[in-house]
Parts: sequence; structure tokens; C-alpha cells
Amino acid sequence: LTVAILFGGKSVEHQISINSAKNVFEFIDKEKYTPVLIGISPKGEWFLKEEVNGNFDIKDSLKLILNTEKGGFHNNYSGETITPDLVFPVLHGTDGEDGSIQGLLKVINIPFVGTGVLGSAVSMSKLYSKRLLQAAGIPISKYVFFDIHEREKISFQQLKDELGLPFMAKAANLGSSVGVHKVKSEEDFDHAVADVFNFDGTIIFEQFVKGRELECAVIGNEQPQASLPGEIVVSKDYDFYTYEAKYLDPEAAKLEIPAVVDEKSSKTIQELSVKSYQALKCEDFARVDLFLKENGDIIINEINTIPGFTNSSMFPMMWKERGISFTDLITKLVEMALK
Ligand code: DAL
Ligand code: MG
Repeated sequence: LTVAILFGGKSVEHQISINSAKNVFEFIDKEKYTPVLIGISPKGEWFLKEEVNGNFDIKDSLKLILNTEKGGFHNNYSGETITPDLVFPVLHGTDGEDGSIQGLLKVINIPFVGTGVLGSAVSMSKLYSKRLLQAAGIPISKYVFFDIHEREKISFQQLKDELGLPFMAKAANLGSSVGVHKVKSEEDFDHAVADVFNFDGTIIFEQFVKGRELECAVIGNEQPQASLPGEIVVSKDYDFYTYEAKYLDPEAAKLEIPAVVDEKSSKTIQELSVKSYQALKCEDFARVDLFLKENGDIIINEINTIPGFTNSSMFPMMWKERGISFTDLITKLVEMALK
């Protein structure tokens, strides 16, 4: 069975996707599957990686064009069309995790791992996912949003009155904490608004949740299963779990898997994670990010339909703790996608 691993991509998480794909490629069961690596450049060109040897550089590969007639990708040099049995989109963010690629694969009849068009699109949007979670009665933090054309209406004073200080400012459609700011002053606010609108047409302001930062991994379809929650303990040098703390500074965060929480909280987290997964129409797998407050309240922060598989990513680690190796996890995902 040929499994095409799609990686790179046009989003701000291009490099994170490469790091995730390296691990998926390394750990996929090569006795069962023949992995084919297809890299997408930041401009959106598709390339076939023939020789890998640890080199995931996309530029020096052979260019592919979509062959919609054959349901595959045409290699101009060899004249062949590659028709994978399945695609594993190991892409994060815009054009990879937001339903775009999923729609393209659906149209050309290639099965793929993970959530479909609707669930991907709503989960990627911090605004629409909040609306659906709210409608399902799932606890989320208080939020206010603005589109870029409403920029003049955004007032620091009003937000401060409504949300209290500090509050969070987030780009509505990005991942890996790109475009996420903790606002403590008017100066932070000005900087945050300018930065977010550089990347995104919608800004979300959220009440800051003081609590422990936990994540829960979910897999499955008819009866989704949740892992035990894991905890991210971010060093005091960081305001929150920033891009730098996630990927660049190995000292920035300690991962506790499973998190040390009482049984009741753990059970509620698992239940709310599965409920969120279902409310957002997730399929095969996702990671739910949440906060546990001192008083025991749980606040769902967001859901990631293609969570990271990097060396510092929790999703594979949380399943490993449950006795499912990374290789078995990939096999499970591929099998679910083929059903
Ligand atoms: N968006 C990153 C990859 C994550 O959620 O793990
Ligand atoms: Mg997250």
C-alpha cells in the first residue's frame, strides 16, 4: 500500500510540518506500507522527494502536477503518474489543516488520514470552533472578535473593561502560537493588533485563563477514545506556551505525561475532549488543548486536527504512555482512513 506523506506547505507552520513529517516517515511501518514523500513549497508547488537520507529539503526535488483524471500526481520528468492508495497530510495550518487539501483529495478520490472538509475548516478557525463548542455546552473562555475592516472599532479600554487584564489576542486562523499575544498594556495591545492583522483577517480577544495547561489526545470515529491528559509546564521565563517555547528552546517547557491530576478531573477532561471532538466533526484523530483552573473548572482552549508529530509534540507521547507505539499509532490512523 502506497502512503503519500504530504508535508511542508504554504502556512507559517511550514518548518513544523517538516519536523512532523520526518517522524511520520521514520516510524511508519515500512513492511506494511510504502511511504512516498511529497513536499509542498511555501509558494504551493508540489515536489516528489525521491532520495531522502534525512534530507527533507523541498526545493531540490522533482516537480509534480496534479493529475485529476488519474487521481494522482504527474511527474514531468519520468512521465509517470503517482497514484497513492492513501494520503497522510502531515501539514499544519492554512491550506493543510483547514479543509483545503482535504477538499482537493476528496475531489480526486484519494482517501486521506484525518478530519474531512467541514471539521477541518471549523476546527482551524478559532472563531467558528468557539461558536460550535459554545453551542454544544462546552466551557470556553469569554471572547470578542473583530474583522480587519472593523479595526477602527477596536478599543483597548473596552476590551480591558470586558475581559480584564491581562487578556489574549490571537490570529483567528493560525497554529503553533504564531500571532498569539498576551496583552498586559496598551502598548502590548497596539503591537498585538498590528501583528495579527499582518497574518490574518480576524482577531480574537480572550479572557486570560489562569490555570494549568493540559492537552488530551483523541482517536477514533464511532466511539472516539481519549488518552490521559498531559501537562505542559512552561518555564517562568515565558508568558505562555509561545512558538519559541514550543520548538526553539528545549529548556522552556516540561511535559508531564500523564498529568498529575485527580481522577475526577482526568475523567471530565477526557469526556469534554471527546465531546469537543464530536462537536467539531473531527475524524480519525485530533488533540484538544485546555486549561484546568485551581477551582477545578476546565476550559477548552482549542482543537488541532493535525497535531504536531515533532520531537516535542505531545500527541504521539500521550499514546505511547497508553501503550500504543508511534508505529502502531500511524497504522491505526491509516487503517481508520481506509475504512
Ligand atoms: N499546530 C501544532 C503543530 C500543534 O498543534 O501541535
Ligand atoms: Mg494549540
